[in-house]
Amino acid sequence: MRRNDKSSLLFVLIFLLIVSVTFSIMSVEARKHHTKKSKPRPHKHQKDKHGPEPDSRFPSPAPAPLPHYGSYNRTKSSIFDVLSFGAKGDGVSDDTKALIAAWKAACRVAGATVEIPSEFKFLIKPITLQGPCMPNLVLQIDGTLLAPPKVGSWPKSSLFQWINFKWLHNFTIQGNGIVDGQGFEWWGGSESNSIQLYVVTSHWQKKSKHIPEMKPTALRFYASYNVTVRDIKINNSPLCHLKFDSSGGIKVKNIHISSPENSPNTDGIHLQNTKDVEIQHSDIACGDDCVSIQTGCSNVHIHHINCGPGHGISLGGLGKDKSVACVSDIVVEKISLQNTLAGVRIKTWQGGIGSVKNVSFSSIQVSDVKVPIIIDQYYCDKHLCNNQTGAVAISGVEFNQIIGTYSVQPIHLACSNSVPCSDVDLIDIQLKPSSKYQSFQQALCWNSYGKSQAPLVPSSIDYCLRRDSGSVKRIARSREHMC
Ligand SMILES: *[C@@H]1O[C@H](CO)[C@@H](O)[C@H](O)[C@H]1NC(C)=O
Ligand SMILES: *[C@@H]1O[C@H](CO)[C@@H](O)[C@H](O)[C@H]1NC(C)=O
Ligand SMILES: *[C@@H]1O[C@H](CO)[C@@H](O)[C@H](O)[C@H]1NC(C)=O
Ligand SMILES: *[C@@H]1O[C@H](CO)[C@@H](O)[C@H](O)[C@H]1NC(C)=O
Ligand SMILES: *[C@@H]1O[C@H](CO)[C@@H](O)[C@H](O)[C@H]1NC(C)=O
Repeated sequence: MRRNDKSSLLFVLIFLLIVSVTFSIMSVEARKHHTKKSKPRPHKHQKDKHGPEPDSRFPSPAPAPLPHYGSYNRTKSSIFDVLSFGAKGDGVSDDTKALIAAWKAACRVAGATVEIPSEFKFLIKPITLQGPCMPNLVLQIDGTLLAPPKVGSWPKSSLFQWINFKWLHNFTIQGNGIVDGQGFEWWGGSESNSIQLYVVTSHWQKKSKHIPEMKPTALRFYASYNVTVRDIKINNSPLCHLKFDSSGGIKVKNIHISSPENSPNTDGIHLQNTKDVEIQHSDIACGDDCVSIQTGCSNVHIHHINCGPGHGISLGGLGKDKSVACVSDIVVEKISLQNTLAGVRIKTWQGGIGSVKNVSFSSIQVSDVKVPIIIDQYYCDKHLCNNQTGAVAISGVEFNQIIGTYSVQPIHLACSNSVPCSDVDLIDIQLKPSSKYQSFQQALCWNSYGKSQAPLVPSSIDYCLRRDSGSVKRIARSREHMC
């Protein structure tokens, strides 16, 4: 039995030896692993001296699907750069297909960005960029988009607009880039002699055989909702620069629109059948209305706009060819106008149907504006239009704090004989003749009912409006049901 005891003790000792050796090996290995794990810090610091390295906070990069797409983070991986889709960006090659391809790829990804990179110019033929897309698509314009400069190279079937955005929800255009409509030929001149033509207005407006009647708008939105356009520049459109048609939830901020003073019919921003709009902090200089509000618009807020040269801020012309026009709930405030044809105005054609109501123009600074305040219910773009009975009714219009200088007439309210303007308020109007001009016309108020409140300069404004009466208000109200 003792022998057996000895041998079993030996066995236990050998067993313990094996266990302890195994354990110590394991712990050395463990320590090795530990040192490895804590190594990256000094390693990273060392590498930083040699240049940027992939951020170690993120897992090691997965293979990128395309060279331009980053891969650490969804924000980066959803950038669709037109250069990655074959665009040349030299301003001469046709990059239309590349833009469409980038758009189609981005459209399928939530929160994607189509990138127009800076320092490149992309010649783009007339196109439609349409949805529906995944939400929160962004068109980031940092470079330049150029329209075809030759009228002859525009397809006859695409004269309505250059870039058409259609059926988009929650879409943003932003960036410091330029959208250039290169409209010189459309205006009837050419770029080379455009400086001379700036002076000779009639030359530009002369009809040319080669220029179609219909001219393209630069950027047009159709049936789109929750759209933001900010920061970009839009220049030299053949016609209107930025148009929203049958859309809603529109925000425009900090954009710059520019085309020469004598470029015909080049509106800045044009709204039609569009609701819930805010346009703010932008500079607009063009050949026609800085902002034009057409039928079907309501709840529009325009503020902090510099306008001029141009035709000012306009509602209308409404009711052309006896059509129904409905515009309501418009606020235009904190606007500065220089050298414009009109300041703030409402213009309707004779014979129209419907109504304009609840409109407020306030804190409007005018400088050398021909006629700062206009309501014209005899609007006519020819020399003479036939007199018609009936008009788009105008009621509830406030002009408050319209201050500065005019060069032709301070105020021109020409309302319809059959449907007078009612509830028109003139409050704190201070308009002095501009030093630049010599001949002036008296303030005019025709069939305009409402009230005025001092200060009023010139004082003739005080006697301009007629006191509102129940019958006049009833006529206006009877037109509202048509809207
Ligand atoms: C993606 O990157 C952006 C900018 O670098 C950063 O602000 C954002 O938090 C990142 N998102 C994720 C999910 O890591
Ligand atoms: C647009 O965005 C808003 C707010 O983020 C969201 O409530 C809405 O569902 C989005 N609409 C669409 C069509 O994606
Ligand atoms: C627009 O955005 C608002 C809130 O941001 C959201 O409630 C609404 O659903 C959006 N409309 C569309 C058509 O996406
Ligand atoms: C007039 O329009 C403003 C701005 O859209 C709105 O807040 C207000 O409720 C409207 N007033 C009436 C009487 O409809
Ligand atoms: C329209 O009516 C005005 C004022 O009654 C008149 O002076 C003008 O000649 C008329 N115009 C036409 C085309 O009949």
